[in-house]
Amino acid sequence: MQRNQTNQSVIRIEGLNKTYEPDFEALRKINLTIRRGEIFALLGPNGAGKTTLISIICGITSPTSGRVLINGKNIVRDYRATRSVVGLVPQELTTDAFETVWHTVSFTRGLFGKKPNPRHIEKILRQLTLWAKKDERIMNLSGGMKRRVLIAKALSHEPDILFLDEPTAGVDVELRKDMWDLVRGLQKNGVTIILTTHYIEEAEEMADRIGIINRGELILVEDKKTLMRKLGTKRLYLELQQPLEKIPARLKPYDLKLANDGNCIVYTYDTRAKKTGITALLQDLSESKIKFRDLNTSKSSLEDIFVDLLKENT
Ligand SMILES: Nc1ncnc2c1ncn2[C@@H]1O[C@H](COP(=O)(O)OP(=O)(O)O)[C@@H](O)[C@H]1O
Ligand SMILES: [Mg+2]
Repeated sequence: MQRNQTNQSVIRIEGLNKTYEPDFEALRKINLTIRRGEIFALLGPNGAGKTTLISIICGITSPTSGRVLINGKNIVRDYRATRSVVGLVPQELTTDAFETVWHTVSFTRGLFGKKPNPRHIEKILRQLTLWAKKDERIMNLSGGMKRRVLIAKALSHEPDILFLDEPTAGVDVELRKDMWDLVRGLQKNGVTIILTTHYIEEAEEMADRIGIINRGELILVEDKKTLMRKLGTKRLYLELQQPLEKIPARLKPYDLKLANDGNCIVYTYDTRAKKTGITALLQDLSESKIKFRDLNTSKSSLEDIFVDLLKENT
């Protein structure tokens, strides 16, 4: 990928709202720019509005207000042009049961106005380990294989942008691995990837940037590394010589947690704060006659950050 393309926007979402009848606001004032060539993870709990947002960008659902531009073109006014550069792997398994794998994937390519290209179809079927099943009817395939067909369909017309809606929810380990290899390979070839997930590890592992969505609002968009650094708190684990039943009253201010059947004290502190409070804590522990045999620290994961953010926003 060329360097000058990295920061170029490929999708612009401006003031997007979606209200489902009669008055449920599924999306509120979404503003978001997707950069060409990035892997963007839209992270949020079930019901947050992820599928709704993706469906609007892909032209399946219409927005109530606001607009979406793909490569500078409006998705409503320029539907065909914008839709043809987008591939979507939907959350739900939906395929034509009676068709063969080969036919349905080739046919999908045609729907986007692309000339037949059997070599391309063969390439993606092989990549997805579907080649041996190419003449099989879809209804005879396992759930995992059906999902592979959905991915093949989404890639059939060589899209510049690929959407994956909850790609690994309920899929087996092998498909998950194949999928990530495929996604990384596509990114190398300049494809922009947007995935939704409610698995933090998935966002943490795959994404360049992460957007957190909750109750229809985009509450944060951040470079993954910056997000981890900026919001990173650390934990101090103190392994005790004697287990504790509860935290003594004088240690209340530290908001300590007991772990490992009372054998470990966990202290969470902010790495950005002027004072971490560790010195004072150790002193208070000593004065409380609590002895420890070992200590170590760990950085908080995206999971903790996510949980904290959702708490702040409810
Ligand atoms: N067609 C619809 N009609 C009414 N409400 C809907 C419809 N589709 C989704 N919703 C509601 O909108 C909210 C967001 O749904 P969705 O976008 O599917 O969330 P997510 O994909 O993040 O789980 C949910 O509360 C859901 O029940
Ligand atoms: Mg969804």
